[in-house]
Amino acid sequence: MGHGIAQVSATAGYEVVVREVDDAKLQQGLGKIDKQLARAVEKGRSSQEEADAIRARLHGTTDYRDLADCDLVIEAITESLELKRQMWKEVTTIVKPEAFFATNTSTLAVVDQAAVTDGRFTLVAVDAVSGFGDDLYLEVKLWNRTLRPIASESLYAE
Ligand SMILES: NC(=O)c1ccc[n+]([C@@H]2O[C@H](COP(=O)([O-])OP(=O)(O)OC[C@H]3O[C@@H](n4cnc5c(N)ncnc54)[C@H](O)[C@@H]3O)[C@@H](O)[C@H]2O)c1
Repeated sequence: MGHGIAQVSATAGYEVVVREVDDAKLQQGLGKIDKQLARAVEKGRSSQEEADAIRARLHGTTDYRDLADCDLVIEAITESLELKRQMWKEVTTIVKPEAFFATNTSTLAVVDQAAVTDGRFTLVAVDAVSGFGDDLYLEVKLWNRTLRPIASESLYAE
């Protein structure tokens, strides 16, 4: 799931820092993106130059400190409230105060994650990431603290 979000975001032109738990997992995730990009070139949906530019916007790390300057942090880690809360506690101490935090959870309440972010979690839901054939789709919805939608952006990667 995380590699799909990273690929769609980089395809949309954003610089993306991908954080994994260890180097093997990181290379595995980036490898999946490399395959998707190569496939897009093979099928003529993307030029090699475009694929290279997308790949150059993806920066892998295992160190939370590399997230420090991010404007938006999207979590797509294992579906465990304990793990997600542990992760946010650490990220909250590192990432700049004006950044938005987003969760890609399927089943957990957003407020249970927000509770450990020192009052600075902006309620953001990554509403859907789907694969239609080889296409990827990501919708990011931004909510205020009264749970009213205030912005929505859809990103696509073919
Ligand atoms: N919104 C949607 O449409 C949608 C769809 C599917 C899954 N999800 C959600 O996405 C999340 C991930 O799902 P999945 O099926 O890919 O899970 P998964 O367990 O297959 O993969 C989780 C990945 O996160 C990594 N990880 C664990 N802890 C980490 C940490 N602290 N930092 C960085 N990486 C870490 C793991 O190494 C693994 O590679 C879950 O919360 C799931 O509910 C949402």
